[in-house]
Amino acid sequence: MLDQPVAITVRPSSEMDVPAMLAIYTYYAQFGLGDYQAEPLRPDDIKRRRKAMLNRRLPHLVAEQAGLVVGYAYAVPFLKRPAYRYAVKHSIYVHKDHVRSGVGRRLLPVLIDACAQAGFRQMVCYIDSVNAASLRLHESVGFERSGVLRSVGFKFGHWTDTVLMQRALGPGGATPPSDPAPEIEKS
Ligand SMILES: CC(C)(COP(=O)(O)OP(=O)(O)OC[C@H]1O[C@@H](n2cnc3c(N)ncnc32)[C@H](O)[C@@H]1OP(=O)(O)O)[C@@H](O)C(=O)NCCC(=O)NCCS
Repeated sequence: MLDQPVAITVRPSSEMDVPAMLAIYTYYAQFGLGDYQAEPLRPDDIKRRRKAMLNRRLPHLVAEQAGLVVGYAYAVPFLKRPAYRYAVKHSIYVHKDHVRSGVGRRLLPVLIDACAQAGFRQMVCYIDSVNAASLRLHESVGFERSGVLRSVGFKFGHWTDTVLMQRALGPGGATPPSDPAPEIEKS
């Protein structure tokens, strides 16, 4: 009999997930294409960021498979100025041993829905131009390329381009926003 694929579930992250998220992130900070951050993250950094996002009702999610955290994704305000309060940008990371097995494809739509439910209207992502996996993942869930920022990064000894991708949430820009602004409501 063929083995059944192990289900991937998505749920809000908890503080217990911080070590697993840190391990996933640290690998990419050192070797990956996803992030430009050179400084290593500490558990408190992820804890603090997670709390700050949850206080603003921004989703912070993990994907779990067979009881293991295999990926995480979260949204932050696109820009701090109030005019941009209906737009978010997001990050997504899948454990290096679980890439290309559908985790991102399962996780990202849940993040998109959570941001739409929270009242945000646009979702924005910056992706390294050679990050084929992330470009494909985002295209497959409705993101479009809005432009390329040339030579804005310098890592591993060379300049890197960043692709700006965007997706509307709910009615997007077709109707005025609902008030109060979602991300400035404090729970
Ligand atoms: C980018 C990332 C989140 C993708 O997640 P994933 O779980 O590996 O992707 P999935 O298996 O769900 O595949 C999603 C789509 O991308 C495609 N894809 C995945 N890896 C790919 C690769 N290396 N090259 C080309 N396409 C790829 C899949 O075929 C699938 O396409 P489809 O929807 O048309 O079938 C994951 O590779 C990752 O965490 N990378 C490192 C961190 C990072 O770059 N984060 C994003 C920063 S912007």
